[in-house]
Amino acid sequence: MAGTAFITGATAGIGAASARRFVAAGWKVIVTGRRAERLETLVTELGADKVHAIAFDMRDDAAIDHAIAALPPAFADVDLLINNAGLALGTAPAQRADLAQWRQMIDTNVTGLVTITHKLLPVLIARKGGIINLSSVAATYPYAGGNVYGGTKAFVRQFSLGLRSDLHGTGVRVTSIEPGMVETEFTLVRTGSQAASDSLYGGTTPMTSEDIAETLFWVASQPAHLNFNTIELMPVSQSFAGFQVVREN
Ligand SMILES: NC(=O)c1ccc[n+]([C@@H]2O[C@H](COP(=O)([O-])OP(=O)(O)OC[C@H]3O[C@@H](n4cnc5c(N)ncnc54)[C@H](OP(=O)(O)O)[C@@H]3O)[C@@H](O)[C@H]2O)c1
Repeated sequence: MAGTAFITGATAGIGAASARRFVAAGWKVIVTGRRAERLETLVTELGADKVHAIAFDMRDDAAIDHAIAALPPAFADVDLLINNAGLALGTAPAQRADLAQWRQMIDTNVTGLVTITHKLLPVLIARKGGIINLSSVAATYPYAGGNVYGGTKAFVRQFSLGLRSDLHGTGVRVTSIEPGMVETEFTLVRTGSQAASDSLYGGTTPMTSEDIAETLFWVASQPAHLNFNTIELMPVSQSFAGFQVVREN
């Protein structure tokens, strides 16, 4: 059944594809992100009756308050929160990592996500709605250079499970989506290098934003008595590496 979805991080990748997927199925969407011109492009493409755009930074508490308070009546009954905005910054090992980048990941992926969730919980409970959080395989499988990014995504997974407990009896559904490699702007943002991004995805068949958008839509379309707690998915071309061992000779 169609409703209204609040999708964070809809200026690119999974969020933009999700906005298109949900609108194609008759949903209304609220799309957010810092790049206002990309949000306006979505409004033009999909229609102002279906898309409400609000540009703000996930780290700006007052802007989040304002965005929610200023929702037009046609978009105020939020049935689904898709907590998608997030990023990885840097690939250096912890001992050489940039502390400012660590803080930006935590402020966006953790603090921003819980802030929006907290502020939308009253309407989500009133609507018996749903929350879909974008975690990652990095929540479960550590890799060198994943340090704080993996930590933020482990938080998202565990927060999702905790929300399920707290929301028991409210009818609100919560799902943690945990993808492997999806080709988006993610690696460009992480490394600042288009060449690094091309080389990571080159010669593989990664998942696409549309693959994940379809998964989110499928989760949201299940009967109201079903809750998918976690979904982990990867492209066939990606799997697991072994443990590292230091050899002394
Ligand atoms: N790509 C993958 O392989 C992969 C795998 C597992 C999980 N994920 C997760 O999936 C989610 C979406 O990532 P993606 O792959 O679609 O990456 P993407 O193409 O880089 O999109 C990230 C989105 O997050 C938004 N965002 C980042 N920082 C923000 C901030 N401070 N305030 C507001 N919005 C912010 C960006 O918008 P603006 O820059 O316009 O603000 C953009 O719309 C992330 O949470 C990511 O961790 C991705």
